[in-house]
Amino acid sequence: MSREEVGFPPCFFFLGLCLILLTGQAISAATDREVLLRLKDYLEAKNPIHQGAYARWNASDSSPCNWPGITCNDADRVTGVNLAESNITGGIFPNFHLLTGLTHLDLSSNTIGGPVPDDLNKCSALEHLSLSNNVISGELNLAGLTNLVVLDLTNNRFSGSIRSNFPAICANLVSLNISSNEFSGNVTGCFDQCPKLEYLDLSSNLFDGYIWHGFRNLRELAVADNYFDGELSSSTFASNCALEILDLSVNNFSGTFPGSIANCSKLTSLDLWGNAFTGEVPSGIGSLSELKSLRLGNNAFDPTIPEELLNCSKLVFLDFSNHDFGGDIPEIFGRFVTLVHLILYGNQYTGGIESSRVLRLPDLTSLNLSKNRFSGNLPVEITTMPKIEILILADNGFSGSIPPEVGGMAGLQLLDLSYNKLTGSIPLAIGNLTSLLWLTLADNDLTGDIPPEIGNCSSLMWLNLANNRLSGRIPPEISAIGRDPNPTFEANRREIRLFTPIYGDCLTMNRWLPASYPPFNFVYTLLTKRTCRTTWDRLLQGYAVFPICSNSLSLTRGISGYLQLSGNGFSGGIPPEMGRMRNFSMIQLDGNRLSGRLPQEIGELRLFILNVSSNQLSGEIPDEIGDLRCLSILDLSQNNFSGELPSSLNGLSELNKFNVSYNPLLSGRVPLTGQIATFDRDSFLGDPLINFISSSSGGASFGSPPPPPPRPARNSSGAGRGERWKSVLLGVFIALTLAFVGTVTRTAVRCWRRRELRARAEEEGLRRNWAW
Ligand SMILES: *[C@@H]1O[C@H](CO)[C@@H](O)[C@H](O)[C@H]1NC(C)=O
Ligand SMILES: *[C@@H]1O[C@H](CO)[C@@H](O)[C@H](O)[C@H]1NC(C)=O
Ligand SMILES: *[C@@H]1O[C@H](CO)[C@@H](O)[C@H](O)[C@H]1NC(C)=O
Ligand SMILES: *[C@@H]1O[C@H](CO)[C@@H](O)[C@H](O)[C@H]1NC(C)=O
Ligand SMILES: *[C@@H]1O[C@H](CO)[C@@H](O)[C@H](O)[C@H]1NC(C)=O
Ligand SMILES: *[C@@H]1O[C@H](CO)[C@@H](O)[C@H](O)[C@H]1NC(C)=O
Ligand SMILES: *[C@@H]1O[C@H](CO)[C@@H](O)[C@H](O)[C@H]1NC(C)=O
Ligand SMILES: *[C@@H]1O[C@H](CO)[C@@H](O)[C@H](O)[C@H]1NC(C)=O
Ligand SMILES: *[C@@H]1O[C@H](CO)[C@@H](O)[C@H](O)[C@H]1NC(C)=O
Ligand SMILES: *[C@@H]1O[C@H](CO)[C@@H](O)[C@H](O)[C@H]1NC(C)=O
Ligand SMILES: *[C@@H]1O[C@H](CO)[C@@H](O)[C@H](O)[C@H]1NC(C)=O
Ligand SMILES: *[C@@H]1O[C@H](CO)[C@@H](O)[C@H](O)[C@H]1NC(C)=O
Repeated sequence: MSREEVGFPPCFFFLGLCLILLTGQAISAATDREVLLRLKDYLEAKNPIHQGAYARWNASDSSPCNWPGITCNDADRVTGVNLAESNITGGIFPNFHLLTGLTHLDLSSNTIGGPVPDDLNKCSALEHLSLSNNVISGELNLAGLTNLVVLDLTNNRFSGSIRSNFPAICANLVSLNISSNEFSGNVTGCFDQCPKLEYLDLSSNLFDGYIWHGFRNLRELAVADNYFDGELSSSTFASNCALEILDLSVNNFSGTFPGSIANCSKLTSLDLWGNAFTGEVPSGIGSLSELKSLRLGNNAFDPTIPEELLNCSKLVFLDFSNHDFGGDIPEIFGRFVTLVHLILYGNQYTGGIESSRVLRLPDLTSLNLSKNRFSGNLPVEITTMPKIEILILADNGFSGSIPPEVGGMAGLQLLDLSYNKLTGSIPLAIGNLTSLLWLTLADNDLTGDIPPEIGNCSSLMWLNLANNRLSGRIPPEISAIGRDPNPTFEANRREIRLFTPIYGDCLTMNRWLPASYPPFNFVYTLLTKRTCRTTWDRLLQGYAVFPICSNSLSLTRGISGYLQLSGNGFSGGIPPEMGRMRNFSMIQLDGNRLSGRLPQEIGELRLFILNVSSNQLSGEIPDEIGDLRCLSILDLSQNNFSGELPSSLNGLSELNKFNVSYNPLLSGRVPLTGQIATFDRDSFLGDPLINFISSSSGGASFGSPPPPPPRPARNSSGAGRGERWKSVLLGVFIALTLAFVGTVTRTAVRCWRRRELRARAEEEGLRRNWAW
């Protein structure tokens, strides 16, 4: 059903007109109610299943003013409609302009699509309009909304130029947020005449060209992640600069950065990350006494940090990453005593970790020195950092062993030492780290076994020891990791500011969460530049972000972990105790020398991914594997499994990668129907005893292809659903028609009644007048 079909026929307008002419204000209020009931019908027709609070708008109420989401003024005229987070799909209701008193409209966080109808452009009383977090597309034309104070279009699919809207609707505009769309073109001259504009967010679009010269009253300007370029002149920051937040990151600005930034004395956050700025870091930044966050990374600034910056006495976040600076870490970094986060990854530093005294910064909780050229032993002094929680020394040339003193880093939550040349064994003292959530020691040369003490790491949800030379048995104690991360999560909830204070860059999540695997690939859908930080915070605070499998195949949200031990020399059996690791979604033990049976306890897990490929496992594949209802990737290839393929495998309806190749003793018949039938022979290579042929053909030929397999349950109801939809739509149509006739009649009757009433009142008034 298209938008137009739900419109108002001329007779309604006629009635409305009649009412307005006859009775003025009071009747307009009644019209508001009718319009809202139309809106409700419209929404219900588009959203027959999941509905929002509007479903409770009750047609028997004489006034809509107490309906959820509705605001009225003293004259009972509707001034506000709030339909945020109301499960709405479909296009925007095409008759909002009939609510002539409407000043506030919030449709944010739904799945509203299509272009903005011309109707909305006629709602000229609108002051606040939010369409954020929908999938609205097309060009923007709201040039008629000249009373707008707040416009929020964040995170939609708008495209094209914005020039026809700005400065046309600038006169009263205070806050404009159009970030995360596909707007393009330049914005030259668009905002110069916006006298009241304080917040402007153009981030994450395709804008190019130059930004204007004066920022005037702006308190927040974010243009991150566009194609803006050019140099900023000294006059950019005038003496009355009111900026509190300036984010120019990820554009192509070049030249020196003007020292007149000193004029912006209220600035708390300055983000220049990812441009082509050159020359000296302006010493004028030092007079910004409110500055908390300074990101200069990924530019071409001179390596010298001016002493004046030490005057920023509130600085907590400093990022000077990706500059290819060589030599030692300059000692000035060790003198920013207020720093909580220091980010120096992606330079070419070779030393100075200790001499710069950055490890002694009293409040430092996160330090990122990855992707440099440090070598030699890990500095033992890291273990005495008083408040460190997040320590990232990955991608360097550190060698020698991990000092046992790490056991003293009681507050550590994330330790990433991957991609170095560390040798020796994992210290027993690791078991002391009960706050540790992440431990990534992958891609080193570590030897020896996993100490059983690791089982004392009760918060450890994400353990990656892949590609080392670890050996020995996997200790049964490993099943105790992550058994209770709640104390750490709770401590993080109590902290005000945690990991990335203002605009951290979020690539790290892809690194620490294997984003290409099902339980973790929410990262792709959830993580926009905007949401990244909150997602991180939520994760570190233990709020449910991952889909978690309950064995009935329903997904809930929770926190789920992984165990990644691939590419080592582990031998012996897989400990049956691992069946207790209920909060882990991914177990990768591939590329080791594990032997014995795959324990049946594996069926007690709630896995999405199990890879035990390239080991020496033998015996039958346990039937219980069929209990892993959510399993999406199962790789048992390159082992010595024997016996029949368990028929329970065929019930794994979510499986989309399956490999039992090169298990020469494995036998059985590949079923003709069910999930396993959807996999071709590549899944069974080198399994000569597996009968891949349909029972009817009986011989060695692969003649006719097998009948198309039934798809998993979630795809199966196509045709039936089509029919159901038709009847639902028919029902809706009938209901609408009836409701419509009802409304017209009611309106007519009311119109008549009110006219009578009014006539009577006038008569009475006349009589009274006479009486006077
Ligand atoms: C949206 O739909 C879901 C599922 O039916 C429901 O739980 C939720 O309460 C709805 N949201 C609102 C605002 O009604
Ligand atoms: C609407 O209001 C009437 C009268 O107040 C009440 O009887 C009826 O149950 C309400 N309907 C709904 C769906 O709440
Ligand atoms: C858009 O920006 C304004 C001003 O910075 C902010 O208040 C608002 O929350 C932003 N909108 C979204 C959806 O983030
Ligand atoms: C900006 O775009 C407009 C319209 O596309 C164009 O006429 C104008 O020349 C552009 N201005 C600059 C400075 O590029
Ligand atoms: C950035 O600007 C330089 C010139 O200043 C230009 O050569 C380069 O192509 C631009 N890069 C992008 C991505 O626009
Ligand atoms: C402040 O702005 C004025 C005008 O642009 C400029 O002349 C002056 O140098 C600036 N002040 C500082 C401290 O940069
Ligand atoms: C920084 O502070 C010192 C005193 O601590 C002062 O002498 C110096 O002028 C200040 N520099 C700037 C640029 O404000
Ligand atoms: C383990 O922690 C305890 C208490 O926090 C501490 O006393 C002990 O020294 C630590 N052990 C090591 C090896 O660091
Ligand atoms: C730590 O692990 C060892 C070996 O598994 C165990 O004996 C000890 O009781 C554990 N300590 C704590 C505090 O859990
Ligand atoms: C799984 O996590 C929940 C919530 O953090 C916790 O209560 C439960 O004990 C954990 N279960 C296991 C087996 O670790
Ligand atoms: C730490 O460094 C890595 C580069 O190795 C980078 O990808 C990541 O974003 C950094 N993390 C933070 C929080 O700065
Ligand atoms: C399982 O591990 C093997 C060996 O490390 C690897 O080649 C294979 O790609 C993995 N399987 C899947 C499905 O990821």
